[in-house]
Amino acid sequence: MSEGPKKLWGGRFTGAVDPLMDAFNASIHFDKRMYAADCIGSMAYSKALAKNGIITEQERDQLIEGLSKVMEEWQANVFEIKPGDEDIHTANERRLGEIVGSVAGKLHTGRSRNDQVATDMRLWLREEASKILAHLKELIAVTVARAEKEIDVLIPGYTHLQRAQPIRWSHLLLSYAWLWQSDAQRLEQLIDRVNVLPLGSGALAGHAFNIDREFLAQELGFKGIINNSLYAVSDRDFVAEFLFLSSLTMTHISRLAEDLIIYSSSEFGFVKLADAYSTGSSLMPQKKNPDSLELLRGKSGRVFGSMSGFMMSYKGIPSTYNKDLQEDKEPMFDAADTLSGSLQITSGVLSTMNIFPEKMRAALSADMLATDLAEYLVRKGVPFRETHHISGAAVKMAEDRGVSLHELKPEDFKSLHASFEDDVSKIWSYETSIDNRTAIGGTSKPAVLDQIQKLQGWLAEGKRL
Ligand code: ARG
Repeated sequence: MSEGPKKLWGGRFTGAVDPLMDAFNASIHFDKRMYAADCIGSMAYSKALAKNGIITEQERDQLIEGLSKVMEEWQANVFEIKPGDEDIHTANERRLGEIVGSVAGKLHTGRSRNDQVATDMRLWLREEASKILAHLKELIAVTVARAEKEIDVLIPGYTHLQRAQPIRWSHLLLSYAWLWQSDAQRLEQLIDRVNVLPLGSGALAGHAFNIDREFLAQELGFKGIINNSLYAVSDRDFVAEFLFLSSLTMTHISRLAEDLIIYSSSEFGFVKLADAYSTGSSLMPQKKNPDSLELLRGKSGRVFGSMSGFMMSYKGIPSTYNKDLQEDKEPMFDAADTLSGSLQITSGVLSTMNIFPEKMRAALSADMLATDLAEYLVRKGVPFRETHHISGAAVKMAEDRGVSLHELKPEDFKSLHASFEDDVSKIWSYETSIDNRTAIGGTSKPAVLDQIQKLQGWLAEGKRL
């Protein structure tokens, strides 16, 4: 038998493991970040063991005290990882043994690293997802505050990146706030699904000492218990779901980034990023680059990569625990870090960016009111299909004459349809166009204020929307 540290699973192994295999197998260098979840899970498990008389109360106290010491060492950054510490569970148990002696060997009774790791991950993600939710709500708050302040700023609304209809700048900002609000709801639902207990399922077949799982759930703040031991140890849907919703939130951030990159170009000049979120060029002194936005756009690809990578590892695994599942952690950690950082940077960019309302307004053009011209006739009783055609003829007439649509005379319009009257000149107001869209969800001031109020209510009281 090879000399060296004892392995958790070493009993029947006589040959030495290839050192490369040891390194390949190890997850301690990344799963150590679950140290707190691992210690807390073990403390609760010690209590449950004592409750069932599997260990004495004195042994329970020894274990809990030892586990707090282990946790303190991690917190103080003095925990020493030793050769043979394959993962966080192995490392903590080894260290616990050094602190409390042989009683440490009783802690794992009825438990497997399979239900342990699933528990650790759920505890870790529950906490991390709550922090991410707070960042997401902060971003929504920043966006809504800006929308409220700049409600009178007008901007072209685009489809196909072609000028379409005038809108409020706030309306555009709020379109992102709503996307993130859905993201927040998804995250809240995920937290509920994460918040169920796998511990007490053993390696796969359940617990041989009838551990009180209700008690364990209560101790660890889980709202429910996973009702099938095979499912408990093999389910990583919560990771897949987290990776998907991280990808989706990053997609929303990336699309905003793309809008702002375009708007910050000299050709548009609608917005200018604060220095804090821009960088210069090492060669061209005049350049101010929107690096923050480009990174946000780029990082959305990275998170999507984590999701697709994990799904590939996950899809072919037979039931129940297989080591492939160890590939769940790095994507989860990386997505959480990237999303968390991206949300905070996006809040920073949005709250500090300058806008140029006069440039936005100057980009509006009378042809963007061609729909309003058609609507004018609709209000006079002409069927919309017809009005669309007539308005198109007016656009063409203006084009042929090399003038802007609003420069056509009332007589010109009258020559196109008898329903045109002198009051047609009144439609050449972007404000009127915007404020005509009064239905819920439109650009009129009351409709935009209504959105702001709804989002503020949701942020303040978690009001259902
Ligand atoms: N480090 C392992 C993981 O992350 C812990 C579970 C190991 N279980 C086992 N049967 N080898 O998945």
